[in-house]
Amino acid sequence: MTRAYISGLGTYVPERVVTNDELAGLMDTTDEWIRTRTGIETRRFAEPGQGPSDLAVPAAEKALEAAGITVADIDFIIFATSTPDYYAPGSGVLVQHKMGFREIGALDIRVQCCGFVYGLSIAEQYIRTGTFRHILLIGAEVQSTTINLSTAGRDISVLFGDGAGVAVISATEEDRGILSCHLHSQGEYYKEIFVELPTTTKSPRLSSEDLEDDRQWPRMNGREVFRHAVVRFPEVIQEALDANGLTIADITLIVPHQANLRISREVARRMKVAPDLVYSNIHKYGNTTAASIPLALADALDEGLIKSGDYLVLPAFGSGFTWASALIKW
Ligand code: COA
Repeated sequence: MTRAYISGLGTYVPERVVTNDELAGLMDTTDEWIRTRTGIETRRFAEPGQGPSDLAVPAAEKALEAAGITVADIDFIIFATSTPDYYAPGSGVLVQHKMGFREIGALDIRVQCCGFVYGLSIAEQYIRTGTFRHILLIGAEVQSTTINLSTAGRDISVLFGDGAGVAVISATEEDRGILSCHLHSQGEYYKEIFVELPTTTKSPRLSSEDLEDDRQWPRMNGREVFRHAVVRFPEVIQEALDANGLTIADITLIVPHQANLRISREVARRMKVAPDLVYSNIHKYGNTTAASIPLALADALDEGLIKSGDYLVLPAFGSGFTWASALIKW
């Protein structure tokens, strides 16, 4: 039986480290407020001119090297991002061009914080059916240009950071890899984390009046997001366990989308597991949306927390609302 597994992982974060104190110089906030409410200490901001495809390239180079393959071996590109370089075309084709891939398909997906897990599910289907042997799955974001770095945007802007994580998903006949993926959405909550503009529902998509009214920035109902996240994370983790006849005791590590340390702690509490079972590196990078799971997975591997044969759950929750999980035998 052919399975899909992560054969190589690579990450890249911009060099510029932005501390909470630096944000406190731009808006009415404090290091203490951000740390206690979110667990975030620093995040990275891209340089002007850098888009998510630029962050993805060095991460992809490392992922290919780790997988022991070259650009010629990749059959398909999936680029998960909520902050594409351009409105059109997608960022996948930019990576295809910048790295000199063959004229392979490049699919952008925009499922925000669930982008990486949705991407895993797509890659898994193509690999399991024998359509492709090696897929490049990218999660990359430049959030720093999309957030309002003034007091008016402080509830959102202190949360987000830039970065890229890339996985090579390959075929194997061994008893390992992605065992199942579980995808959900509930669009009635689409305005709870909402980037409205530019919109095709009016012309022009973004007007000077919109900019004067500060309508181009993301909006979020933080409390409502929190309330749903702490229910959906445990639910979708349990769904993955049930689908594979496993219990939480079989899981070596939960590597969730890094939304907020308080959300992760609450998920651990509700699942009655030690806080450390829910991996966190949000203190370093903040919420990097589609990039956060591969960035966390890479750090957990570097820290020696995962070994061959371990069961992992990768759950995510975000704008939409969407939520998802993947169960992996490493
Ligand atoms: N610095 C200082 N004060 C801030 C602030 C900031 N960055 N952002 C908001 N505040 C203020 C609010 O204005 C409010 O002031 P008020 O009481 O005078 O009205 C106060 O802090 C409390 O705001 P509240 O929204 O109740 O805080 P909270 O405890 O709910 O924490 C979040 C806010 C955003 C950290 C929290 O709701 C959260 O984590 N939500 C989930 C968000 C998330 O993970 N989104 C991504 C999902 S993928």
